[in-house]
Amino acid sequence: MPQTSHAGKDVFSLVNSIEAISPDCPLEDVAELFSNPKYSKLLSLPVVENGRPIGMISRYRFMDIYLKRYARELHGKRPIRSFLNDKPLLVELDQPLAIAAQHVASNMQFPLTEDFIITRRGHYLGVGFVMDLLHAMEVQMRANTSELEQANAQLKSSQLALVQSEKMASLGQMVAGIAHEINTPLGYVQNNVAIGQALFQQIQTLIAGYEGLLDDLLDEQATEEQIAVQMQQIGELRNDMNAREMLGEMHGLMGDSLYGIAQISELVLNLKNFSRMDAAATEAVSLNDCIESALNIGRNVLKDKVEVVRELGDLPRITCAPSQLNQVFLNLFTNAAQAMEGFGKLHIRTWSEDGMVHVNVADSGRGIPQEILTRIFDPFFTTKPVGEGTGLGLAITHQIIQKHGGDITVDSRVGEGTCFHISLPVASALAAQQPAVLEVAA
Ligand SMILES: Nc1ncnc2c1ncn2[C@@H]1O[C@H](COP(=O)(O)OP(=O)(O)OP(=O)(O)O)[C@@H](O)[C@H]1O
Ligand SMILES: [Mg+2]
Repeated sequence: MPQTSHAGKDVFSLVNSIEAISPDCPLEDVAELFSNPKYSKLLSLPVVENGRPIGMISRYRFMDIYLKRYARELHGKRPIRSFLNDKPLLVELDQPLAIAAQHVASNMQFPLTEDFIITRRGHYLGVGFVMDLLHAMEVQMRANTSELEQANAQLKSSQLALVQSEKMASLGQMVAGIAHEINTPLGYVQNNVAIGQALFQQIQTLIAGYEGLLDDLLDEQATEEQIAVQMQQIGELRNDMNAREMLGEMHGLMGDSLYGIAQISELVLNLKNFSRMDAAATEAVSLNDCIESALNIGRNVLKDKVEVVRELGDLPRITCAPSQLNQVFLNLFTNAAQAMEGFGKLHIRTWSEDGMVHVNVADSGRGIPQEILTRIFDPFFTTKPVGEGTGLGLAITHQIIQKHGGDITVDSRVGEGTCFHISLPVASALAAQQPAVLEVAA
């Protein structure tokens, strides 16, 4: 019997060229075959008629018949046809190994008493051993697994590279965003200072003129002519520049510059808040009070934009940093007001349930499109025009809620409105008690 390689990847590698027996072969001849050492490892013998397999006779079945009393005398001469299993397991040569294995595995009998017959276009070719098939499958699966492991490692490393480049890209975007935000007010502050400097020089000249005149007036030796010349020079200077107007202009420039500087410091403050949670004072407060105080601070932004509907339930006090929670609500209320196309509604509902306090902030604004809904909590994500939004409001909000051990989710429908839901544990393990440094670009 030829020994075949098990490592092959097709059915051909499993073929054992076993000489088949004819269905007319008498039982006693089959007994000879089974006792022949050449066939000692065979579980079963293939039975073939006109080149086609018609059955299998297993050693097990054969013994069952042949070891009975008088079986030799009774059945010895009878053809094997009457005893064979006429539904042997068949595998076609060109079947993929995995399909063949599946077919054999799902039709195999236990205990294993027969192997399977391999055919080429229905004609007998040889016998395949179930154990060889399983072994070949195992080899193939091991090869597949190592291929998968390699592919997985490659995927992981390319994912890492992708994340890294995404991080770099968003860091670049963030830096560009901040640079732009700072640059606009910085530009006009710089311009104003330059104009102020020119005005200042002119005023200095005028003052110098007045000082000269004053010196001449106080100098007893100064002649009337000298004084007259001085006065004429000052008169000309006064005609050339209107000091009152210039001072007024300076005043305006200073005011604009202060506004620009305030814008820059607000941005810096936001960044600072975002990157580092300052240790904020903690107190046991009711969220309803935080909501009221945020509504109060934001009343100018809200009053022409929304009607506020309060549905504030009885809430237990929670240990929190009230200044931070005020900021959370102010961010949400401001966003809601900014999302209104005309005049709308801001519905605030609070309740407590299962050791948690809950707040719903629902607006009837324009809603948030599905494709950006997952990005609104990202730092620097904004849909507002340059100079109007930093995109830090919700990122800070999210961070504060997380620090309080809570959760914030959003539900929105374009054209209908948006609802933010906040839940906070009553017994909050407030991490904000220790200052935490967060990575801005992580
Ligand atoms: N209630 C809302 N309705 C519709 N869109 C909203 C609402 N709240 C947030 N958004 C969207 O989420 C984006 C991010 O909000 P976020 O508060 O973080 O930044 P921002 O409001 O754009 O800027 P900033 O808060 O710094 O002024 C907004 O630009 C807006 O597109
Ligand atoms: Mg905002």
